[in-house]
Amino acid sequence: MTQRRILLIVTGGIAAYKALELVRLLRHKGIAVRAVLTRSAQEFVTPLSFGVLTEDHVYGDMFDLKEEREIGHIQLSREADLIVVAPATANVIAKMAAGIADDLATTVLLATDKPVLVAPAMNVRMWHHKATQRNLATLRADGIAIMEPGVGAMACNEWGKGRLPEPAEIAAEIERLLDEGDLPRPLLTDTTRTIIAPDLSGPTLHGRHVLVTAGPTHEPIDPVRYIANRSSGRQGFAIAAAAAQAGAKVTLVAGPVSLPTPRGVDRIDVETAREMLAAVEGALPADVAIMVAAVADWRAADEAPQKLKKDGSGAPAPLALAENPDILATLARHARRPGLLIGFAAETETVVDHALAKRARKGADWIVANDVSGDVMGGARNSVHLVTAAGVEDWPDMPKSAVATRLVERIADELAGR
Ligand code: CTP
Repeated sequence: MTQRRILLIVTGGIAAYKALELVRLLRHKGIAVRAVLTRSAQEFVTPLSFGVLTEDHVYGDMFDLKEEREIGHIQLSREADLIVVAPATANVIAKMAAGIADDLATTVLLATDKPVLVAPAMNVRMWHHKATQRNLATLRADGIAIMEPGVGAMACNEWGKGRLPEPAEIAAEIERLLDEGDLPRPLLTDTTRTIIAPDLSGPTLHGRHVLVTAGPTHEPIDPVRYIANRSSGRQGFAIAAAAAQAGAKVTLVAGPVSLPTPRGVDRIDVETAREMLAAVEGALPADVAIMVAAVADWRAADEAPQKLKKDGSGAPAPLALAENPDILATLARHARRPGLLIGFAAETETVVDHALAKRARKGADWIVANDVSGDVMGGARNSVHLVTAAGVEDWPDMPKSAVATRLVERIADELAGR
């Protein structure tokens, strides 16, 4: 698994010294930490102590020419999986809510599209002030995760709410957010138009067209009812995101889900299996197609124009089903069959045997088999087996985002070797 990385922003307050303990705990968990200290944080703690504990350069001033040349503020947040502000003063919370960027820390916070966790620490009266509560509500509405401060004695001889949560609690929350994977990246209102430079460190998908299906389909029965399943779309969205990150042009055909569109991905929303098939065929040609959607196998044979009514006799519902087209199998036989065709197999028993059979039956090149007997559907983690012509690989249990990255790396290697 690639190393988990956080960017820790330390702002000025007596609790800043606890951020050192937080760094120690995170490093102990194998999480890499890069620290940014605001000018007022440096009145309480020294960059030197953070440098020793993070084993990295500590960043402070936005307008330090040497630092900007070495690594820009955009790069600082790009290299992190999560940004943590701890301790977060009332002042930095107010700046974040207003979108003020007047030093390196606040500039990073305004320029980032990464998830952000805030651990507030302040005097009890400042915490309860309407302005602070209003600012916190704004941050929550923006999708920023906020920890509740502790209650207790304050440095200023007062008692109440506003103490920095214990470093161990913050570390546990950070680990939980990182391991959940697929963290929301809530802060940009339009993530689709961001141009991302491809990662050039290994084989890339630059110049390739990758087609991904994701989510469930909804098959209407009547104007108010439909057939559906528990698919959340998270695995497919993560794969689309990873392919875009690797430089591909990505078309994501998504069933009804409420996930944000990953950066750099062209998304087509559909509702039914037949709409999904039409959108997929319309998006061809593609170099790679990854069919992650949990397509409903059946639809109502006739969609009732009006709401179906019980007739009071207790007779079984008059619901005839018709089989939906199989999108994966259709692509396998298609005149414009993608060069690499990958299916997913959601199984609850004899996972690998079913996947081997499904690969042959559907004409896919690879099958990613996942055991959905647990809480995979809708969950953040996935445990998969990759079935190719060469055999079966068992991948360890990992976040869906890590499955996506690994699959995309395998695809890039495969295409590079052809
Ligand atoms: N799939 C598809 N169109 C369908 C059904 C499934 O494209 N109408 C694709 C899925 O996107 C997935 C693969 O086929 O890549 C396998 O889906 P799965 O639901 O596991 O298989 P089923 O076809 O439903 O087979 P079974 O009912 O035997 O499990």
